[in-house]
Amino acid sequence: MTTIDYAAPPSPCFVLDEARLRANLERLAHVASESGAKIICALKGFALYASFPLVRAYLPGVTASSLAEALLGLEAFGGEIHAYCPAYIPADFDAIARLASHLTFNSVGEYARYRDRLAGASPGLRINPEYAEVETALYNPCVPGSRLGVTAGQLGGELPEGVEGLHMHTLCEKGSDTLARTLERVEAKFGALLDQVRWLNLGGGHAITREGYDTELLIQQIRQLRQRHPQLEEIVLEPGSAVAWETGELIATVLDVVESPDAEGRPVRTAMLDVSFSAHMPDCLEMPYRPRVLGARHDASPEELAAAPHRYHLGGQTCLAGDFMPDYLFEAPLRPGDRIVFWDMIHYTMVKTTTFNGVQLPSIAIWREQPRAGGQLEVVKRFGYEDYKRRV
Ligand SMILES: Cc1ncc(COP(=O)(O)O)c(C=O)c1O
Repeated sequence: MTTIDYAAPPSPCFVLDEARLRANLERLAHVASESGAKIICALKGFALYASFPLVRAYLPGVTASSLAEALLGLEAFGGEIHAYCPAYIPADFDAIARLASHLTFNSVGEYARYRDRLAGASPGLRINPEYAEVETALYNPCVPGSRLGVTAGQLGGELPEGVEGLHMHTLCEKGSDTLARTLERVEAKFGALLDQVRWLNLGGGHAITREGYDTELLIQQIRQLRQRHPQLEEIVLEPGSAVAWETGELIATVLDVVESPDAEGRPVRTAMLDVSFSAHMPDCLEMPYRPRVLGARHDASPEELAAAPHRYHLGGQTCLAGDFMPDYLFEAPLRPGDRIVFWDMIHYTMVKTTTFNGVQLPSIAIWREQPRAGGQLEVVKRFGYEDYKRRV
């Protein structure tokens, strides 16, 4: 699975496995070359710039949702910058427009406000097809009353003059079957408008690098879309998660083990860690989901949990009462100094960290590919007091 030596990095530390990142990029590049689509990297999901020399060898650009991301795209990535902000900050707009090749607007009003200041970028409009198979409302851009994108009803069968592209983003870690069903709805609602634009951005949320993803169906969908709308010069996919999917871990250390009675008076043991779910892995609390921990189970039945000798909650660094994950079963007792390895902690996790409670940000390391030696650790970032101080 991986050759990373989990004892090597400082703790806490995100460790990206360069070989796994390359494997993901090869898959994305395959889809791009077979389908004719352009696949760019969504910086909001993955922005580890020490890995960009590798990423840009496979992906021709980035999608940016702020001036900061556009500048990072320019400075550290190169290539095309496709911009979309739910609402552009007026003071930032001209700088973004100068950097971007494509500018997507979230509403007709935003487009009207800025259409004379495009600086040569190709303007597009985000559409809301009012169809998404996303179970968690927090991640569903098509909930009733959504602020993201323009509905077919609002457009009334017409595009504002000068709009050259359409953009949709309705998936979240979804298969190509979901894309197929979504495209059916999009074409039913916006079909005539698809014939009036020269580019179509299918957003992110395509779980292309997840095991079992039907890549052939995706390729076929894109090819057929181009056949049905031959004037489309570009079909763009902008995944974030799929770029860094399962490419690395967050390494933590047990600092203490505490015990306290549950409602029935049975002892609950919590391994206190040097990481925080709230500050370092917020999706675990927001989605919510329980991350996989190497060497531990978190899928046990109530009977197994009751009988398990080494059952622990994993406790975070902050004083937020809910900063913990319940019920992991280990094979041996946990002791201070033991390492805990959280699986798949690169996409979104790294970009969402905070210093809430003044907790230390995890270091960032890359396990560099070295086929013969099995790999080598390079710590690319360490954080300290100054990082905290600068933010508050
Ligand atoms: C407009 C847009 N594009 C692309 C993405 C990237 O999505 P993902 O990381 O799920 O592929 C997002 C994620 O929220 C998004 O909002």
